[in-house]
Amino acid sequence: MNLSKLSSGRGSSKATSPLSLIWIAVAGLAIIVGGILISTVTPLIFPTQGSAEAQQIDALFQFMLAIGGMIFLLVQGVLLYSVLRFRARPGDRADGPPIQGNTTLEFVWTIIPAIIVVIITIYAYQVWVSIQSIKPNEQLVEAVGLRFAWIFNYTVPEEELPPDLDREALPANVLASLNNNGFMTFSSPQLHTWVGQPVHVRMRTEDVNHAFWIPGMRVKQDLLAGRTTDIRFTPVEPGVYRIVCAELCGSGHGNMAGEVSANGDLIGAWLIVHQDEEAFLREFLIPERDAVLFPPADPALRGRQVINNYACAGCHVLDDLGWVGITGPSLNGIASRTQRLAAGGYSTMEEYIYRSIRYPGEYLVPGYGNIMPAFNPEPGQPNYMPEEDLEAIVAYLLTQE
Ligand code: CUA
Repeated sequence: MNLSKLSSGRGSSKATSPLSLIWIAVAGLAIIVGGILISTVTPLIFPTQGSAEAQQIDALFQFMLAIGGMIFLLVQGVLLYSVLRFRARPGDRADGPPIQGNTTLEFVWTIIPAIIVVIITIYAYQVWVSIQSIKPNEQLVEAVGLRFAWIFNYTVPEEELPPDLDREALPANVLASLNNNGFMTFSSPQLHTWVGQPVHVRMRTEDVNHAFWIPGMRVKQDLLAGRTTDIRFTPVEPGVYRIVCAELCGSGHGNMAGEVSANGDLIGAWLIVHQDEEAFLREFLIPERDAVLFPPADPALRGRQVINNYACAGCHVLDDLGWVGITGPSLNGIASRTQRLAAGGYSTMEEYIYRSIRYPGEYLVPGYGNIMPAFNPEPGQPNYMPEEDLEAIVAYLLTQE
């Protein structure tokens, strides 16, 4: 009897005094203002909005954060209020009142979240459709993820190739792409974009699942084994942005980083003047392509160039080429590390470097695991590295003293 009286007394709002109503209004206002404050202050720690999509995504995030912030303040406020208001008084050893279900309350707390979820779903879907819609004149770049590096492939139409090009004489990495519908593909470890030019990144993985994430552009998309995935963005803010792998993919995952330049140093200021594809091909793609098609005769110079066709930079440090990978041993001064000859049973440094690329598990630098993929001499095998490329790379690495 006593308990049920207590329960109805506390649960009922019929006896709410005008003063309580004012307090409820003040608390409601504080929750709304607090939620808006949370959603306004939090984005101050975000990186610069590098893309048009970043503005849409941040607005969506702020909208969700405002709602989430209000719910957080409401729940924590009720919790704190209950702890203080209904705490056990000295000498009170009784159980709490046995309160049964409240249909109105359950109805309200089911309907309100349902409405919120539907609104967020519609809003988020609109943002997603807007981001993923095909943009006029978008630049297609293929992104290849592999443990532990990113490679970006750009495709050049055949008309752009020199008319006297001897296809049989092309390096193996280039030949495969040339046979594909008269287009030629060349690769770069950096993703090149420019302000105002929509980019369509088509992704595939060479091995396990990865995730392509550019925090500054607010784009993030998984790379799934056995299929391609797509993401689109349009840079609006010049700069160089970090690319991060956001899917745990092995021991070098934390190191699987790259760069995207939007009017970055590599393509330089001329892009601001010529914002068209023709200029992009002429000023940027063609010089890089020619460097591949007409390699220097000096094997060491050629090796310094072709080594970039392989994903070595993802794992090794090499100051000469600006590599900063830390998963594998440093290649700085590798030609002077003659103590490895005896340790690995090699007779010359040339033999040591050569076999370290063909058979990386044969001798391991102390402190490093057997994680480097073997580069195979046969076309069609994974990590194909033709003999002439390997010899050039060895010649180049022998200059690193
Ligand atoms: Cu690739 Cu983590």
